[in-house]
Amino acid sequence: MHVLQKAVKNLDRLEDSFADELLTIGAKHPVRADFTPDKVGVFVQSVLSVWKSVLMDQMTAECHVAWEILFDYIMNKMKMGHTDRYMW
Ligand code: HEM
Repeated sequence: MHVLQKAVKNLDRLEDSFADELLTIGAKHPVRADFTPDKVGVFVQSVLSVWKSVLMDQMTAECHVAWEILFDYIMNKMKMGHTDRYMW
């Protein structure tokens, strides 16, 4: 949650403020958590589905798409970190 909070706070300058940290986090996950790139899609859709079930109408279509775009950015950086270090 700390990472998502930071991403939202830095939405306008993600590449400068945040990209390196995401690469490092991505590199760590397969080792510690078996969170490999093939599992990313399931993870993101599960998170969004839980948020929708809690927020109901407050989670508008626009809000859903905005989070998908942000998760896309975060996950692509994590995958890049993963690929660079482990050559998957
Ligand atoms: C948006 C997706 C995710 C983000 C941004 C994220 C972020 C983080 C961060 C910042 C850390 C601490 C890294 C460090 O030690 O410096 C961490 C650790 C960890 N994450 Fe994630 N994570 C994500 C998804 C997941 C998922 C889906 C799993 C499990 C399948 C997972 C399992 C773990 C585990 C096991 C650790 C290590 C905990 C420890 O050693 O104390 N993470 N994650």
